[in-house]
Amino acid sequence: AIDVQELSKNHLFTFDPGLMSTAMCRSEITYIDGDKGILLHRGYPIHDLAMNADYLEVAYLLLYGERPDQKDYNEFTQVIRQHTLVHEQLSRFFHGFRRDSHPMAVMCGVSGALAAFYHNVLDVSDEEHRNLTALRLLAKMPTLAAMCYKYSIGHPFMFPQNHLSYAGNFLYMMFATPCEPYQVNPVLEKAMNRIFILHADHEQNASTSTVRTAASSGSNPFACIAAGIASLWGPTHGGANEACIKMLEEIGSVDRIPEFIEKAKDKNDPFRLMGFGHRVYKNYDPRAKVMRETCHEVLQELGIKTQLLKVAMELERIALTDEYFIERNLYPNVDFYSGIILKAIGIPVSMFTVIFALARTVGWIAHWKEMYDFGTLKIVRPRQVYTGHTQREFNQLAE
Ligand code: SDX
Repeated sequence: AIDVQELSKNHLFTFDPGLMSTAMCRSEITYIDGDKGILLHRGYPIHDLAMNADYLEVAYLLLYGERPDQKDYNEFTQVIRQHTLVHEQLSRFFHGFRRDSHPMAVMCGVSGALAAFYHNVLDVSDEEHRNLTALRLLAKMPTLAAMCYKYSIGHPFMFPQNHLSYAGNFLYMMFATPCEPYQVNPVLEKAMNRIFILHADHEQNASTSTVRTAASSGSNPFACIAAGIASLWGPTHGGANEACIKMLEEIGSVDRIPEFIEKAKDKNDPFRLMGFGHRVYKNYDPRAKVMRETCHEVLQELGIKTQLLKVAMELERIALTDEYFIERNLYPNVDFYSGIILKAIGIPVSMFTVIFALARTVGWIAHWKEMYDFGTLKIVRPRQVYTGHTQREFNQLAE
C-alpha cells in the first residue's frame, strides 16, 4: 500500500484529493462559515438579499463589490436589455440536437458556441471587453435556457420582452406562445427571482473552481462558462436538484421514508439522500432555510397541495434525529427544497439544473473577472502522487 501522506511529507506538495483543505485563490466575493451556516455576498447575508433584493441588484453587487444606487441600477439593467437577443445563427445551432437531448447537454453546447460569435471581437486583456462579456452572459443565459426548453417541446422560440423584469422575462420566454397573450404571475416572478439569488454564487464550489481553472490559461470566457456548466451537471453538485425531486417522487409517501434512510446509511448501497450534505456546511445551509420558507409561501399563494413538501419535511425531521446524519453533520442543502418550488412554478424537472446554471453564471463570471482584476491569472497546474510503473524496456511488437 502506498503511504501517500508519508510521500507528500517528503515532497513540496500536500496530497489533498478533492482539494478539501486547499485554498486555490484569494477572493472578496463570497464568504461561507460552514460551521455556523453563514453565507455573505460582499458582506451581505444571503437571507437579506434573497428576501429583499432583485436578482440584477445582487448580480451588480457580485460583479462590482457594492450595491447599485438607483442610477447605477437603471444603467446596468438598460445595457443588459440591449443584449438579451442571441444571434440568429445560434438559434439554428439548436437544430443540430435531438429534441429529447438533456437540456444541460444543449446548454453546454450553446453557451460554448457563444465563444464562436465573439472570439474575434473580444480582447480579454481589455477591461471594457471583460465588462461587456459579463453583461452579455447575464443577458443571454435566460434566453438560451428558455430556448433549450422550447426546443425540447417543439415550440417556437419566444423573443425576450425587455420591459419585463429579469425573472418575469425568463418566465415569459419559457411559457408564452405566439398564439395568445401571456401575463407574468407575480407570485411565480417573486419565487423565480428568489431562486436565482439563492443560486447566484457560492465561492469555490466545483463548477466555479472549474471556471477559474479553465480561465487560468487565458481561455475564452464563454468557453469557460461551458466548462462550469459541465461540472455543475453532476448529481453530487448542481444535478442534485433534479436527482432530489426524483428521489422525493420515488419515496412518494412518509411511511416509505425509513426504508430510504436505511439505504442512504448502507455503505454497500450507492444511494445517497440527494439534497443532503455539503462539503463546507457542517450546519444547516442558510439557503435551504430560505428555500423552505419560500416553498410554504409559494404553495400557499398558489393554493397547491403537494405530498412532496410533506415527504421532504418528514425526511428532514427524521434524518436530523438520526445519529448517522448527526455525527456526519449532514443537513439539507440548497438543492433539497428548490425542486418543489421549481415544480410549483411549472418548470420541468429536466430543466432544474439549467435554472441553476442560469443563476450561477453571474457567480462564475464574477470570479473570472476577479482573476483579471487581481492580476492573478496564474495557470492552475496541481501536482499528483504517481503510483504507476517505473521505467520499462520497450521491445518490438514482433517480440
Ligand atoms: C451543491 O460546493 C458547493 O458549494 C456546492 C453548492 C453550490 O452552491 O455550488 O452548494 C451546490 O452542489 C450542493 C450539494 C448537492 N449534492 C447533493 O445533495 C448530493 C448528495 N450529497 C453528497 O453527495 C455529499 O454530501 C456531497 C457531495 C455534497 C459532499 O460530499 P463530501 O464533502 O465529499 O463528503 P463525503 O462524501 O466524504 O461524505 C462524508 C460522509 C460519508 O460517510 P462515511 O464515509 O464518513 O461513513 O457522509 C456521508 C458519506 O457517505 N454522506 C452521505 C451523504 N452525504 C455524505 N450519506 C448519505 N446521504 C448523503 N447525502
